[in-house]
Amino acid sequence: MKILAIESSCDETAASVVEDGRTVLSSVINSQVVEHQQYGGVVPELASRRHTENICDVVEQSLKDANMTLQDVDAIAVTYAPGLIGALLVGVNYAKGLALASKKPLIPVHHIRGHIAANYLSHPELKPPFLCLVASGGHSHIIWVEDYTTFQIIGQTRDDAAGEAFDKAARTLGFPYPGGIYLDAAAQQGKRGTYHLPKPKVHGSDYDFSFSGLKTAVINMVHNAKQKGQEIEVNDLAADFQGTVAEILTTHLMQAACDYHAKKIVVAGGVSANSGLRSALTEACKEQGYELYLPKLSLCGDNAAMIGSQAYYEYLAGVRAGMDLNGVASIPVNVSYR
Ligand code: KG4
Ligand code: ZN
Repeated sequence: MKILAIESSCDETAASVVEDGRTVLSSVINSQVVEHQQYGGVVPELASRRHTENICDVVEQSLKDANMTLQDVDAIAVTYAPGLIGALLVGVNYAKGLALASKKPLIPVHHIRGHIAANYLSHPELKPPFLCLVASGGHSHIIWVEDYTTFQIIGQTRDDAAGEAFDKAARTLGFPYPGGIYLDAAAQQGKRGTYHLPKPKVHGSDYDFSFSGLKTAVINMVHNAKQKGQEIEVNDLAADFQGTVAEILTTHLMQAACDYHAKKIVVAGGVSANSGLRSALTEACKEQGYELYLPKLSLCGDNAAMIGSQAYYEYLAGVRAGMDLNGVASIPVNVSYR
């Protein structure tokens, strides 16, 4: 079954054709990041406008790259939640138009379920159940994935998402938006142990996260140093920040893996590209005997192939949307469509 998938929840306009949830026939991503960089973050109004301008070309290119026309695909899938509402609506309405015109089924997909499914594209043998860490710009979750469409949230951030903390710390250190990738590169040049950062815990929960105190500690450290005329070793502070975030995510995940008797551990979302997190998890899983699945670097960030993969399993579970499909800015990953 070939699914044409569309993603427009944030600042990437993306389209992809995916076969049977596992084979990517095409994947086109038009990123607006350079334009948003000058504002230090995504400007929602601009994002919607750019999606509107780009979506026709992106979808057309994805069909062309797959050597197909709209008539050759079996269904249309689209990210309907969560995300910037104006951005989501562009993809949702475009997908509705395509489904109506071609008389193909319309499959709504939750963006975070898509990030998890990026691992089905990276690891053809991977099947649920497994324990999953989702760390993106907007979410930090530990999720028990019971089957392809059944999710249990067992831990989440109480304040900032991991990616958000990366981006804010990176901005304080002078990097452009989104700073996670720049902070990662700096951390690889730095050494750990110079800057002592807190590892905030959430009282009464072993699985929940709190990153805002850690982010604030970096901001205060940089501001205090500036006031005293002292130099900050940017690479070393980046290494200590990245190492601390990786330790927090890894410790919580290992605790959950032990308590839930997990065998397989899967990582998803933009922050799964982080080199410090990847190596901390690789080491911990090797030591404690878990099979670790990391998405290919090209599938860590936002893309439509991951939406096409999850859409296949949503379709098999009977999920369909009608012409009343709407975008939803925020909805938990465990809540299924309708
Ligand atoms: O999943 P994603 O592409 O978009 C959302 O759904 O939010 O995640 C984007 C987040 C940004 O905060 C970005 O800085 C972060 O992922 N990110 C990284 C790295 N690459 C992307 N954070 C740390 N290290 C990286 N290498
Ligand atoms: Zn995302």
